[in-house]
Amino acid sequence: MSEIYRASTTAPVNIAVIKYWGKRDPKLNLPTNSSLSVTLSQSDLRTHTTASCSPSYPSEDALLLNGQAQDVSGARTQACFRELRALRQTLEASDSSLPKLASYPLRIVSENNFPTAAGLASSAAGFAALVRAIANLYELPSSPTDLSRIARQGSGSACRSLFGGYVGWEQGAATDGSDSVAFQVAPASYWPSMRALILVVSAAKKGVSSTTGMQTTVATSSLFPSRASETVPRRMAEMQKAIQEKDFETFGKVTMMDSNSFHATCLDTYPPIFYLNDVSRAAIKVVEVINEAAGRIVAAYTFDAGPNAVVYYLEENEKLVAGLFKAALGDKDGWKGARGDKVESNADALQKA
Ligand code: DP6
Repeated sequence: MSEIYRASTTAPVNIAVIKYWGKRDPKLNLPTNSSLSVTLSQSDLRTHTTASCSPSYPSEDALLLNGQAQDVSGARTQACFRELRALRQTLEASDSSLPKLASYPLRIVSENNFPTAAGLASSAAGFAALVRAIANLYELPSSPTDLSRIARQGSGSACRSLFGGYVGWEQGAATDGSDSVAFQVAPASYWPSMRALILVVSAAKKGVSSTTGMQTTVATSSLFPSRASETVPRRMAEMQKAIQEKDFETFGKVTMMDSNSFHATCLDTYPPIFYLNDVSRAAIKVVEVINEAAGRIVAAYTFDAGPNAVVYYLEENEKLVAGLFKAALGDKDGWKGARGDKVESNADALQKA
């Protein structure tokens, strides 16, 4: 019986406050703009992945996600496998005593403990965990930056899940993608009172995938060019300054405006893409009511490619924000909804960023 080599890891989701939307190179997953996110590292929203390899495995690489076999022949997964194997081969070439793991078939087993592909950044956690699990298996000396370059080719947003805390993804300028990597703006401990409330409006798979959606937006939206070339670069600078200064008013305002701008370009896409629904819009209203009552910005919503809301706030405002959401959610039939939706409004859903 041949030996089986194995390594496991987990990777958390990240939720962008400045959105990545648009690729200048779809093959290498090079974005049209930089982006910035918060990694929800203390939350339950993570992917657990075990990577193993063995000469005794069937010749094809295999990937199981939540118990279901996935197609690994896609260019993105193949790119990650290829790059990681090449790094392992370099190690093996320099030390002949190392087992020849790069030549063995891979078996990847991943579990998400949250809805897959429902706009909750599942591909981000998924590819980040896949890349790190294989890097661990191969005992690669790669840095998180190196791994972010590889994970980006699996799913753009995945590069940001290789770091904790407040994380940027520099769009880069190189045509080979060598400088399109994630970087840490600040560790979670720098601004530890940040919290994220996740409202699972719908656990259904999203109608339009991010990849398809953003390509159609780039091709058809007249709002898109100014978003990518002017609005986002300005907001990236504002957001980094807000994080450095722990200025929630600016952090919150820019977060909400960037979510609105992203969804405006989706609506401006032809044919239009609607990710928000009535429940999402009601969540926006609740945030507005909370901020009006407080007389300042204490809560900030953001939505990815789906209807689920993520509301950022500081721990000191937990009663105000989470309390009002609870009250609002309790009063409305529509929240639980005909879709059999799950609305997380209790303390369990308060994810510590
Ligand atoms: C709206 O990273 O899922 O969540 O690179 O095609 O896999 P691909 O796209 P993906 O897109 C994420 C889009 C977003 C915004 C963000 O996370 O920045």
